[in-house]
Amino acid sequence: MLYLFQEWTELVLRWFHVIAGIAWIGSSFYFIALDLSLRQSKNLPDKSHGEAWQVHGGGFYHLVKYLVAPSKMPSELTWFKWEAYATWVSGFALLALIYYAGAELYMIDILKYDLEKYEAVIISILGIVFGWVVYDVMCRISLKTNVYVLISSVFILITVMSWIYSEIFSYRGAFMQIGTVLGTIMVANVLMIIIPGQKKVVASLLANDTPNPIHGAIAKQRSLHNNYLTLPVIFIMISNHYPLIYATEYSWIIISIILIIGALVRHFFNVKHTGAKAPYWVTFPIIILASLIFYISDLGKPKLNQIKDTALIIKKIPKKTLIGAKEIIIAKCAMCHAQEPLWDDMRYAPKLVNLETSTDIINNIDNIYKQSVLSYAMPPGNISMLEEHERYLINQLYLSVNKLKNQ
Ligand code: HEC
Repeated sequence: MLYLFQEWTELVLRWFHVIAGIAWIGSSFYFIALDLSLRQSKNLPDKSHGEAWQVHGGGFYHLVKYLVAPSKMPSELTWFKWEAYATWVSGFALLALIYYAGAELYMIDILKYDLEKYEAVIISILGIVFGWVVYDVMCRISLKTNVYVLISSVFILITVMSWIYSEIFSYRGAFMQIGTVLGTIMVANVLMIIIPGQKKVVASLLANDTPNPIHGAIAKQRSLHNNYLTLPVIFIMISNHYPLIYATEYSWIIISIILIIGALVRHFFNVKHTGAKAPYWVTFPIIILASLIFYISDLGKPKLNQIKDTALIIKKIPKKTLIGAKEIIIAKCAMCHAQEPLWDDMRYAPKLVNLETSTDIINNIDNIYKQSVLSYAMPPGNISMLEEHERYLINQLYLSVNKLKNQ
């Protein structure tokens, strides 16, 4: 019963999380696109900045944007905040339920750091808070400086955090940690910056004061950041089904490249929505970066120690023994035991035992010995006529490899 209950809790929470996320990201996409599509016109009301006409679901919509605020407070106002909060709360609940409660499976890697569960949780929460605080300070400082300086600083911050966490946590834990850091930055932008700013504007309107335009400018900056972060965050959130991508040594670089790709894709749509010519040039850097990711994910997989040992053994075996035995095996076994067997109708090496290179032979030597020195099992029916003195040479190889292995 307990398992069933757990299963339902996780699925329902995830369901809720995804729905809240769709509502939030959907409105973020919508409003950025709306903002970019605003046009000037002569009959716009006082203090307005632009208008847009849209058609959806059987009706026409006429939207007008007031850059700071309208002169008078409207009687009804829809706020967009619960979508963001609900996404974060449900996301954090999932993180706690799956990653924190199962930290030994999903976060801790004892070969990196043999952390206690609670230590892993503290390190994760500290990182989430740290990410937001540093990002927020960067944005505040950068209001006076160049936007590219800010973008590069945030990019470096995330890449460094991503690297540090991949050194401390398991690869899966590190990936989710960075997803959480980014998601938290996005929600905190809404909770701590955008909504409080809008509240101040509403308060000055109600007090018949002129609202300070700085709140609108700051909110616009943060909301644009959120827009650029959405794609990478979603990538990270769905990536835990793909171990070849998240569970390799350089997955932290993959995150930083995805940040750039996600931003390029958003850039494409953001420019397109202004009505300008879509920047198709982004496809070139995207293709290059995507190929780079593909390549990097292959680099970081486990290095099979066996192969290293084998190389060493091969170096030390008496040359005559190795060459002699290898020649025999290639001549008498490799017509079947090859990646592309010559034997009729054979599509793979039998039992996937390849015997084509020195490494193949050394790695399979115990089995070769069993099949063709201790017995006449191979070649089957002695079809390739393996002579006794040839079996003797294979035996010599077996003996010297085992001597080296036991040293
Ligand atoms: C005519 C094709 C053929 C040739 C030649 C041949 N083998 Fe095989 N080998 C097979 C087949 C088929 C099997 C799978 C047998 C089975 O299904 O149990 C096999 C299986 C093996 C296995 C795996 C056994 C196991 O169950 O783990 C080894 C090791 C092996 N062969 C070594 C050799 C060696 C060494 C030679 C040369 C001296 C050799 N084979 C030559 C066809 C061949």
